[in-house]
Amino acid sequence: MDNYKNDFPILTNSNIAYLDSGATTQKPREVLNAITQYYETSNANPHRGAYKLSIKATEVYDKAREKVAKFINSESSKQIVFTRNATESLNLIAYSYGLNNLKKDDKIVISIMEHHSNLVPWQYVSKKTGAKLEYMYTNEKGELTEKEIAEKIKNGVKIVGITHVSNVLGTINPVKEIIKKAHEVGAIVVLDASQSVPHMKVDVRDLDADFVVFSGHKMLSPLGIGVLYGKKELLENMDPFLYGGDMIEYVYEQETIFAEIPTKFEAGTQNVEGAVGLAAAIDYLEKVGMDNVEKIEKELMKYALSELSKLNFVTVYGPKEIEKHASVISFNVNGIHPHDVASILDSKNVCVRSGNHCAQPLLRYMGIDSTCRASFYIYNTKEDIDRLIEALYKTKDMFSKWIKEG
Ligand code: ALA
Repeated sequence: MDNYKNDFPILTNSNIAYLDSGATTQKPREVLNAITQYYETSNANPHRGAYKLSIKATEVYDKAREKVAKFINSESSKQIVFTRNATESLNLIAYSYGLNNLKKDDKIVISIMEHHSNLVPWQYVSKKTGAKLEYMYTNEKGELTEKEIAEKIKNGVKIVGITHVSNVLGTINPVKEIIKKAHEVGAIVVLDASQSVPHMKVDVRDLDADFVVFSGHKMLSPLGIGVLYGKKELLENMDPFLYGGDMIEYVYEQETIFAEIPTKFEAGTQNVEGAVGLAAAIDYLEKVGMDNVEKIEKELMKYALSELSKLNFVTVYGPKEIEKHASVISFNVNGIHPHDVASILDSKNVCVRSGNHCAQPLLRYMGIDSTCRASFYIYNTKEDIDRLIEALYKTKDMFSKWIKEG
């Protein structure tokens, strides 16, 4: 199995098994260097200056946008809006599309496995417009069935919000089928690709998705840069979300003519550093090859699922078939609170997330309030998983009085 750990200074400078890439990823040297180089050679305020340095900053920003467009196969870079993160992208859609296009008794359908960022904004839209918010529920394996999809996505549904990959269960949802079904009933689809774009090939045109969102920091780039892809006619007909500098064409005392997409949605000084970092991350991922990324993660997942299933004091959640399971795995040590487990793991330098993973309705539906979560990326190795298993045995020893085996 290829190993990319050596490209990541934070991992070579420490002795951690970093298993929290679902929350945020570490950054390869190439990305760190690209950011330093940007500040050393090209930094100025883009779009504003007529001088060479500002033009250079504009060029690198525009080039980054083109790189993102190509990476997800968008028709045009004009359909790529840079935001702060997936959450901001989803709020932009909820405010600018949802509030203006929904009316009383329309329906919004989302899945019970949505992250709060693709759930709370729709509650707000529902309360403001009178549209009803309904859920597609998972079966006992943590999957959405065809029947559930067909029963929920029907006439009257105007928006379907769906995560491509659950950040808790790792379930890969059948989003192409969901999008097709939604279009048959005249609904548009908001695809949360935060846990998929970093890990697998996502082709927005092949999926025919209306809106797709993701965060740069979950795919090797810096914090503070996110992406919103939208179909051209949808973006063009939407009101801006934030108002201010650069998103305008002409401003009069009482009226403003807005700039074209995507500038209309990017008020204020842009995060050029973030865009440069994201472009470098895409270069890096393309060098590794997205097929290879998937292959590495599948192998890690297969190993992790198999090793965890040998522990009779651990419950693993989510699909058991590897084809339906992306590189996120939730589990609990029976009878022990996940925060306690995570602390013991940390004492062995194994980093996992514990808690509700910003998906409280899903966990409530599953009858639990929190889990431990290990999530992988290309810098992980089977040895990291061995360290996780070893640390879980240590947890068992420490809490043996309370642990429920079997
Ligand atoms: N959304 C991130 C996660 O799932 C923070 O951990």
